[in-house]
Amino acid sequence: MSDKITLSVIKADVGGYVGHSSIHQNLLEVAKERLSKAKDRGELIDFHVTRVGDDLELIMTHRRGVDNEEIHQLAWDTFVAATEEAKRLKLYGAGQDLLSDAFSGNIKGMGPGVAEMEFTERRSEPVIIFMADKTSPGAWNFPLYRMFADPFNTAGLVIDPTMHEGFRFEVVDVYGHKTITLSCPEEMYDLLMFIGAMRRFMIRRVFRKDGEICASASTQKLSLIAGKYVGKDDPVLIVRCQSGMPAVGEALEPFAFPHIVEGWMRGSHHGPLMPVPFYEANPSRFDGPPRVIAAGFQITNGHFVGPRDLFDDPSFDRARQISNEISDYLRAHGPFEPHRLGLDDLEYTTMPKLMEKLQERFKPEE
Ligand code: F6R
Ligand code: MG
Ligand code: MG
Repeated sequence: MSDKITLSVIKADVGGYVGHSSIHQNLLEVAKERLSKAKDRGELIDFHVTRVGDDLELIMTHRRGVDNEEIHQLAWDTFVAATEEAKRLKLYGAGQDLLSDAFSGNIKGMGPGVAEMEFTERRSEPVIIFMADKTSPGAWNFPLYRMFADPFNTAGLVIDPTMHEGFRFEVVDVYGHKTITLSCPEEMYDLLMFIGAMRRFMIRRVFRKDGEICASASTQKLSLIAGKYVGKDDPVLIVRCQSGMPAVGEALEPFAFPHIVEGWMRGSHHGPLMPVPFYEANPSRFDGPPRVIAAGFQITNGHFVGPRDLFDDPSFDRARQISNEISDYLRAHGPFEPHRLGLDDLEYTTMPKLMEKLQERFKPEE
């Protein structure tokens, strides 16, 4: 056991209400009951259960470090219990993200998304947990770059002597199963070359140059785990703020621009990432558009003080309005690219069967 605090955010879609648009209150209750018992047993210091769209989010603090078997088991058992309730209510896609019948040591690779970090709690420890639905982990590349490397977003990079040195970005090649760490501002152009291709290269963690961890994202891709379409990955991201890290407002600022991400209907379309308050996190139009919530906490001796609903602010109204305009524009393309993902990226596709059926009718080009 460590003196450090571990913050673990583990999420899964274990059943939607109605369809894939939201979650039933009972699932949140089941999760709260489970985690509350774990807190009583001393396994957890504290927890907060929430949701975005159809995703159940377990936010936990403990002293067992990242990738801890007991904590992952606890999350797994909680999702299994919530699945039972989802099945009882015949909710949609009950147990959707639980890709295995039994837990085997680490929840990563079994369906749920995981973002964790271990750190020594500072004199005051403000953190933001971003949670998105109807998109995939590559969605964090753009905002993370802006928070930690772009002086036009983050004034602290220029003004605050403790941020002026810059940050290091750990990038995962999810197809090559490799990671590389690039340092900014020195290697900014190299970094952008990779992370602009957000289906393949994803920022997993960000560190200050003195080694302090600042951000951690889930980078699980369900389709790569399961080898077929099994739902989108609906990622989570933890960002520590203030005192040598981005201010809360600098961490939120990138979301004032609703950048285009992949996901939305059938995980097969491009759409804007709309920042919304908790109560608006129910993607319904064309199963979207993709959306993100921001839960702000002060972590105090490992306990959660919060959350504050950080996108519940009229200064994000315009981002929501622009998202709706972009949605109208993209939706008008119907089944045409670039609204629909490129063929290689389509996860839900009738193409192989169609090709087979029409094979005979293809003639050599004259
Ligand atoms: C996207 C998503 C939904 C479903 C769509 C079809 O991440 O979850 O858009 O893909 O509602 O769902 P099924 O195939 O379950 O009928
Ligand atoms: Mg779902
Ligand atoms: Mg979802």
